[in-house]
Amino acid sequence: MRVLSGMRPTGKLHLGHYFGVIKNWVRLQEEHETFYMVADWHALTTSYKRVEEIPQNIEEMVIDWLTLGIDPNKSVVFRQSSVKEHAELFLIFSMITPKSWLEWNPTYKDTKYNLLRIADLSLMFRGGIRDLVKTFVARLPYKVEDLEALEELLLDALSDSLIQALFEGYVERELLKELNVSKRDFYDTDTYGFLGYPVLQAVDILIYKAQAVPVGEDQLPHIELSREIARRFNHLYGETFPEPEALLTETPRLPGTDGRKMSKSYNNAIYFSDTEEEVRKKVMGFFTDPQKLRRGDPGRPEICPVFFYHKLFTPSEQVEEIERDCRSGRLGCVDCKKLMFEGLEAFLKPIREKRQEFSKNSELVEEVLRAGSERAREIAQKTMHEVREKIKVG
Ligand code: TRP
Repeated sequence: MRVLSGMRPTGKLHLGHYFGVIKNWVRLQEEHETFYMVADWHALTTSYKRVEEIPQNIEEMVIDWLTLGIDPNKSVVFRQSSVKEHAELFLIFSMITPKSWLEWNPTYKDTKYNLLRIADLSLMFRGGIRDLVKTFVARLPYKVEDLEALEELLLDALSDSLIQALFEGYVERELLKELNVSKRDFYDTDTYGFLGYPVLQAVDILIYKAQAVPVGEDQLPHIELSREIARRFNHLYGETFPEPEALLTETPRLPGTDGRKMSKSYNNAIYFSDTEEEVRKKVMGFFTDPQKLRRGDPGRPEICPVFFYHKLFTPSEQVEEIERDCRSGRLGCVDCKKLMFEGLEAFLKPIREKRQEFSKNSELVEEVLRAGSERAREIAQKTMHEVREKIKVG
């Protein structure tokens, strides 16, 4: 089976990347033909104003990949922008992808709203116009097959237009100030490339005819869209691309120090480049069951992020005892964290050492990417010959 995945170069990796995705990447290279890509064109969609950071971020990310066990002798490790064929297929796919598929993509909305911090605003607008929309739909002069779906569609479209209107200055400006968002923030991410992000991702997968895509769960809508684009191309021009399947790890969502999903932007992440002392400090600062205030209070391991880590890093004989002693109150959170740190540090230490070793070799990343991109290009070129034949252009 051919497997492909990619990551935007946002810098050094944390534990969440490993348990969410990379662990799968490493496992898959033992039995399958694997391609792992640095999505540097994708990085431009959100950081085209800060391009100076990109080379350094690529370096850090690939060092982490290698440290965590991605083996360039087993996997094709390459850089998206080194295989220009991606850009050509992107252009072609953009001709056959309905705009609505992209606008309704939940990842697009989420990311955009998160970046702009306007998710609440959208909810507020939707709440305010729901009744109006219902009345409107009920009065339409034709029979509607699926009332609810149409209402949702209109609500989406209208609340989006209201947000746009807000930024254009049609709505009272006080609201903008209150929300702490600016017109500039809005237009910075409201680009053609940002909307087309998943089309480029479909290219990354389909140009290698990959059948499986190991990703984090946040990427599932993107994989679904890749399947739809493959299906549409095949339908229009004849069977060409297999429909790729997403592969998830068994721990797709690792909690960070505050119990929320581990993420660079939440500032709750533990990095492979962190020193032992930094890790210790982060572990001692972990959130725990808020009802367990002191030793003696009974705790609830099932909601405690520290216990989640025990299950991953502490020898299993000990985990049961920890669970029991937390519940009874015998074990306090401070001691529990100290135990957890030991297990976690035993996992991190060899990785940290290996990382330092790799960091010394300044040509390593460049050489790996050069060789990998060459291999990738051969395959991408073959697919493009086939595509040009089929679409009669190029
Ligand atoms: N969108 C992915 C992410 O943000 C990165 C990515 C780009 C990707 N191209 C891909 C993932 C192709 C899988 C396959 O994590």
